[in-house]
Amino acid sequence: MQGTESNADRGSWNSKLGFILAAAGSAVGLGNIWAFPSKVANNGGAAFILVYIFCCFMIGYPVMAAEMAIGRKSGKSPVGAFKSLIPGNPFFPLVGMWGVICGFMILAFYNVVAGWTASYIFEEIFTFTGDLSLAAVFADTNNGVKNAAFAIFFMVASVGIVTGGVSGGIERSNKIMMPTLVLILVVLAGYVATLPGAADGLRVYLVPDLSKITPQLIFAALGQSFFSLSLGMGCMITYGSYLNKKQNIPNSAIWVTSSDFSIAFIAGLLVIPAMYVAQGSGITIYDEAGKLIGGGTLVFSVLPTLFHQMPPVIGLIVGVLFFLLLSIAALTSTISLLEVPTSYLIDEHNWSRNKASIAMGAAILSVSMVIAFKPALVDTFAMIFNDIGLPLGGLFISLFVGYFWTITAAKGELSKGHPDFENSWFAKLWPVFIKYISPVLIAGVLGASIYQLIL
Ligand code: TRP
Repeated sequence: MQGTESNADRGSWNSKLGFILAAAGSAVGLGNIWAFPSKVANNGGAAFILVYIFCCFMIGYPVMAAEMAIGRKSGKSPVGAFKSLIPGNPFFPLVGMWGVICGFMILAFYNVVAGWTASYIFEEIFTFTGDLSLAAVFADTNNGVKNAAFAIFFMVASVGIVTGGVSGGIERSNKIMMPTLVLILVVLAGYVATLPGAADGLRVYLVPDLSKITPQLIFAALGQSFFSLSLGMGCMITYGSYLNKKQNIPNSAIWVTSSDFSIAFIAGLLVIPAMYVAQGSGITIYDEAGKLIGGGTLVFSVLPTLFHQMPPVIGLIVGVLFFLLLSIAALTSTISLLEVPTSYLIDEHNWSRNKASIAMGAAILSVSMVIAFKPALVDTFAMIFNDIGLPLGGLFISLFVGYFWTITAAKGELSKGHPDFENSWFAKLWPVFIKYISPVLIAGVLGASIYQLIL
């Protein structure tokens, strides 16, 4: 299936749906359910969503198709991909390396947050059994030892799946977990909508106040879209490298983009109204300045409040299931983050898959240990490697395709597996987006924000 296979440890996807689900599994994770609702709350509600939609579909989607095409054409993970598509260019392999570093660092903090999710499964159980002091331990995101233990657990699970390989490990696990998560989110959002107070939340979530669109909001929306869509660090290059020539890339990428957006949107539909419902039971949801409280622990404070108000056994089941599925969604994302540095070692240094994933897992885990004991670092890491690092990577990927690899070569790759490529709207619009719109917008937003940060 995979034409460019040169290394027995590479591998390929088994089926069309398997690839889409794995890529969607990478995209859907804490970014959608933990980060998105709190960014919406922090940035004035529906206005953020409008800008976010623009970032996902006008910037993210074209970059995603570009990443998949680079991956499939080269059959390599980022560093090797840039090397093989324009041999001799000294700069772009560095962009690939930057991707490997971002993957490394993002996974280091992601692991800790994923650990919070898993530990809330126990918080829910002990709240139900009435062991409130134990429940408090599992709810404490500042407990270093507990954070470390859960981060280790997550890393071991990710390494286990990644050593299992592409189709057996990554593909199979995604097929079952994704659909179940969507189901529970929809049911919960529907339930919350019936509770008193929810209407106020729905209004904030759905009726945009355009005066809230600020430069910070745009910067946050751009970074969030790259994070949520797993873009800008070569994750989709790597996943694309396991793809056969029959797969329709523009089509797969739109599926991944729209399912990722929809799941974030439904998560917000659950969390924002749930904040207003929680307000009814005395939880503060506005800060002194009258702004909605966002922040890294929003989901962890608002949703358990909701679960605890449900009839006892139902609350237990829903709470446990929610945090379990969120942990699983996080796992399908951590494996994709780990896959990038792992496949770098496999492709560029000829390591075996086992050795590469275990060594990378251990190295990343050592950084997670520091963050476990100093959780405030999550925000710092997210700012550098996610909000700045990913759009920067996206900028260089767009420039690479638009001006170095060339649009003609990229279109040649994108047309494979697409029955009527030349006549499609994609073939006409995508070059304009990747050459002009995406680089200009990313550079503008990043430039303005870095300028503001430095001032
Ligand atoms: N997209 C995932 C989420 O929303 C996180 C993630 C997985 C990611 N792989 C990535 C982010 C690669 C950036 C790059 O939770």
